[in-house]
Amino acid sequence: MASEDQPTIPRDNNIILETRNLKKYYPVRRGFNPFQRGAHKYVRAVDDVSIKVPKGKTVAILGESGCGKTTLARVITLLSSPTSGEIIFNNRNLTKGKVDYKELYREMQMVFQDPDSSLDPRLKVKASIAEPCKRLLPDRDHDIDSIVLQSLKAVGLSAAHADRLPAHLSGGQKQRVAIARAIAPQPKMVVLDEPTSALDASVQAQILNLLLELQKSFNLTYVIITHNISVAEYLSDFLVVMYAGNIVEYGPSSSVIENPRHPYTMALISAAPIPNPWKRNLLKTEIRGQVPSTINPPSGCKFHPRCPYAEKICSEQSPELREIAPDQFVSCHFAEKTA
Ligand SMILES: Nc1ncnc2c1ncn2[C@@H]1O[C@H](COP(=O)(O)OP(=O)(O)O)[C@@H](O)[C@H]1O
Ligand code: SF4
Ligand SMILES: [Mg+2]
Repeated sequence: MASEDQPTIPRDNNIILETRNLKKYYPVRRGFNPFQRGAHKYVRAVDDVSIKVPKGKTVAILGESGCGKTTLARVITLLSSPTSGEIIFNNRNLTKGKVDYKELYREMQMVFQDPDSSLDPRLKVKASIAEPCKRLLPDRDHDIDSIVLQSLKAVGLSAAHADRLPAHLSGGQKQRVAIARAIAPQPKMVVLDEPTSALDASVQAQILNLLLELQKSFNLTYVIITHNISVAEYLSDFLVVMYAGNIVEYGPSSSVIENPRHPYTMALISAAPIPNPWKRNLLKTEIRGQVPSTINPPSGCKFHPRCPYAEKICSEQSPELREIAPDQFVSCHFAEKTA
């Protein structure tokens, strides 16, 4: 699947972020045995991922735990450096030449899954929100105190919360502070890694609604990482389904969810507790087993050991991503059969 001309989504000129054949391999540590020989092995966490993210839209990256979603988020935000491939953000190539990190993080922010690890427990709310602003925005042009208050208001908190420590906030309030912190420097894009999965169901819904409101108010672009198809369905315009470091399906979210064409996507949707009136005959067979090791991935289609449709060719040849319906791309030898 590593072809240079792998298609990317969508066919749209108003693109804020593009990845081209992006890879992130982690070297596997060898034991201490000095006589151990053999080539270095790698976890191929992200293996040739090309996506395009349109301005003001939401792209969801969906997949089981271990399929490379967080790694992709970390590489896109340059928290980890890519092994190869290109990242173009806001017309600048982040993988060629020197990166202006101040400029980058003014325009691209991140929200993590667990606010307890992203917020410093010793800092009051106002100091937490002010910290990236002080680092990223020139003092003379910005009244940081009023930015902090505006950001708190935007996420549904008040000035009364500004003097509290994270320990005195609920889980939902902490995630609101983490979101306020991300939007305070007025970024163009926010990458959110499982932003609601640590929260109770009722609070999750409030945070998802808040994200939609903020997107509208500030014309934000989101890349949202999730293992939860309901979250992807609720928030996203485009859906990218990952399996073992690769994209297996992508396209407009409504098309992919109403008419999934990759057996893995079908199984994810079939297992999700959401009504899917469009596709009552979705793959009923539960997929068994785990995401495979990406150190020694299965030959051919990496999904073949778990796929109920697998035939001989599946273990021999890796399927290309190909367009199976308008703007919907699938990497499966038998995608026509699943229609
Ligand atoms: N820093 C790291 N060093 C080595 N392997 C890693 C590292 N981070 C992630 N991995 C491996 O990369 C794969 C993808 O992980 P991750 O991106 O966290 O997946 P997800 O977010 O989809 O659960 C997993 O096999 C994981 O063990
Ligand atoms: S290529 Fe074969 S193994 Fe892979 S998803 Fe399609 S049918 Fe299943
Ligand atoms: Mg993750």
